[in-house]
Amino acid sequence: MTIPTVTPVVREPIRTPHKRERADPCTAVIFGASGDLTRRKLMPAIYYLAAQHLLPDGFALVGVGRDPMEHDAFAASMRDALEHADDVKTVDNEAWEWLSKRIWYAYGDLSTPQVYDGVRRCLEEIEGPRPPRDRNRLFYLAIPPSVFETTVEHLSLSGLAPRIDRPGVQPWARVVIEKPFGRDLKTAQELNHAVLDRIDEHQIYRIDHYLGKESVQNILVFRFGNSVFEPLWNRQCIKNVQITVAETVGIEYRGKYYEEAGVVRDMFQNHLLQLLALAAMEPPNAFTGNYVRNEKVKVLRAMRPLVGDGDLPVVLGQYTAADVGGKQVTGYREEKDVDPGSVTPTFAAIRFSIDNWRWKNVPFYLRSGKRMAERKSEIAIQFRPPPVLMFGQDELEDRCPSTLVMRVQPDEGISLRFHVKTPGAEKELTQSLEISPVDMEFSYAKAFGAESPPAYQTLLLDVMIGDQTLFTRSDEVEAAWRIIDPLLKHFERRPPRELPTYPAGSWGPAEANELLIGAHSRWR
Ligand code: BG6
Repeated sequence: MTIPTVTPVVREPIRTPHKRERADPCTAVIFGASGDLTRRKLMPAIYYLAAQHLLPDGFALVGVGRDPMEHDAFAASMRDALEHADDVKTVDNEAWEWLSKRIWYAYGDLSTPQVYDGVRRCLEEIEGPRPPRDRNRLFYLAIPPSVFETTVEHLSLSGLAPRIDRPGVQPWARVVIEKPFGRDLKTAQELNHAVLDRIDEHQIYRIDHYLGKESVQNILVFRFGNSVFEPLWNRQCIKNVQITVAETVGIEYRGKYYEEAGVVRDMFQNHLLQLLALAAMEPPNAFTGNYVRNEKVKVLRAMRPLVGDGDLPVVLGQYTAADVGGKQVTGYREEKDVDPGSVTPTFAAIRFSIDNWRWKNVPFYLRSGKRMAERKSEIAIQFRPPPVLMFGQDELEDRCPSTLVMRVQPDEGISLRFHVKTPGAEKELTQSLEISPVDMEFSYAKAFGAESPPAYQTLLLDVMIGDQTLFTRSDEVEAAWRIIDPLLKHFERRPPRELPTYPAGSWGPAEANELLIGAHSRWR
């Protein structure tokens, strides 16, 4: 069915006053400088910040890798990374000229003190001519999780990243830690202890790149920047919430990592639970780090345990080989570095319940998978049908219920589906009306033209500004693990002999439909 759309007009933007647009003078030290993350995400983000004049003159970048290299050779390798990065269309020579003069390199084994001496020498040269308050340092750990702890320990012992008791003091030292933060509750707690033993929470920036996406930040603006929707945002009006993060890609040569992680660790513990928390949280007192994070933690703590007396509200799945659009796609078990008998899930659908006043008895259905039919991430809020279906719209409620959809990616935007009278004369003839669904549609690209900045650009700038709103706090990471950990332990104790399968290029195993409860409830 083609559903007609109505598009809103965007008026003059209003800037929120609290966000400074320029970063403090600082040196960003990236550990893992020759790794994939630096080449594909961090370097393009830094380049774009430079090209948009969002970096201060007092900015410098020190890459830290294993291989010996001169500063110039490292800068040349970063230029090469930009030429090949998906996020970069063309490299502007003037912006590159500005940035390349500020690139340094240090090398060595991260578990030995020598490499930190090398970093110190770079920092002394860079910071020497600056006034003390401009000697700010950002340490980015784009390295395997197994070396997070030792690296933070060395940073602290070497004095490169001293503990700073109060936020707002300059010069600052901040440490950015990539995901995964722990592989279960215990390891996450241990890592939190180890890091907090050395530096303060206000110095730690735990990354979940989903929080840097424009459309994800917009969830809060949409909810709390308007008064229209919030009165409906509760168990009285909402029937269920469906959060989907579907990917068309497979595991992309990360067989070893993925066999250990699986979709629940890889996507649910972080990205999907973050989307849920933003959709379900109470209004924070202000849009600042601790107020927002306090509310997110409250939601996560109100979530009902998944493993209890009743049936497990979880369906797992694994993709099998299939022809997708004329191309033969390999099944998960045939991927490189994957055990041919593996029961690692590449798809999961989970029904969550939030036992608080706002959400009691409103199911939150979350699903995510690799090699799905479409790349699509969205939060869909399905409204309850009217108490009396006086237009005979039972089937319509089943197929196209009134729904508000926040599209996270691609085609970021929002649509609101509701029902209207189909123009026509049936009434006179049959004494009944025909009604149809229509979509009211907002698309970021159509309304604002420009593409949204990549998530890492937003997040790096926030670290330099000192805004922790889009980073996860220690209690938040642990609260998320408390939800996921019992489920992982349950499957470790009782590993399934086989998983439901789904052909690559589909919407997941049919069993996922059984998770939805009640009339007019089906996956979108
Ligand atoms: C990462 C996961 O955190 O997020 C990947 O490890 C996944 O498996 C990726 O593909 C998805 O991110 P995005 O931004 O492409 O939706």
